[in-house]
Amino acid sequence: MNLDLKKLPQHIAIIMDGNGRWAKSRGSLRVDGHYRGADRVDEIVTCCRELGIRYLTLYAFSMENWARPKAEIDALMALLKEFLIIKREKLVKNEIRMVSIGDTERLPVEVLETLRETERLTAGFDKMVLNLALSYSARDEIMRAVNTLLREKEEGKFRDNFISVDRFHEYLDTAGMPDPDLVIRTSGEHRISNFLLWQSAYAELYFSDTFWPDFGRESLCQAIEEYQSRERRFGRTSEQLRR
Ligand code: FPP
Repeated sequence: MNLDLKKLPQHIAIIMDGNGRWAKSRGSLRVDGHYRGADRVDEIVTCCRELGIRYLTLYAFSMENWARPKAEIDALMALLKEFLIIKREKLVKNEIRMVSIGDTERLPVEVLETLRETERLTAGFDKMVLNLALSYSARDEIMRAVNTLLREKEEGKFRDNFISVDRFHEYLDTAGMPDPDLVIRTSGEHRISNFLLWQSAYAELYFSDTFWPDFGRESLCQAIEEYQSRERRFGRTSEQLRR
């Protein structure tokens, strides 16, 4: 693999998809796919940390996922809690800060407490940020930001009649984080599915046919290699970039 370590994406965001189909293709239960998916989370976090990726955002549970059968939601919540407890030590050892975005107050109380405790324990680290999108939908995030602004305007805390793009970002869950440079979706689906709609304005999109439980280091490096072969023009011309 020929990665240019000077041209790494600063922020990678991943829509981890295909756990269910991976399990079905093996005649196993969907939950087995999620457990194998959690192993890949560990592998990909480790790989990003080793490469020097500064921000990794993982779409772990969407707002829309609350509509899944209760048994699957319960299994995913139990897995999330277990993962947060088991991986804490590794996060601390590798100086990875864990944060979350989304309407996390909707999570079961024991999961939310484990999440907050992991965030608190890792709050002082700055080698890499692992951002979990939980109970997340981009439209919900944007509307919560708009509603906070309306409330602040009403209360006189926000006095201006104009808001800039940069200032609006401070109202989003991702306040303080750079926009993703590379958004990856696994499992052959070519959709964004309500993920980081505002923040992905100029992200490079990469779609892999591989199901998430099979998406390992090599797959990630392939995605980064493809990213590095693209020209990011941000609306300018190629000639302008070469000057
Ligand atoms: C999508 O696959 C995946 C999810 C809804 C959950 C993602 C969860 C994990 C990868 C494991 C736990 C996460 C952490 C952070 C420990 P799907 O179920 O929609 O698959 P399908 O489209 O094939 O049915």
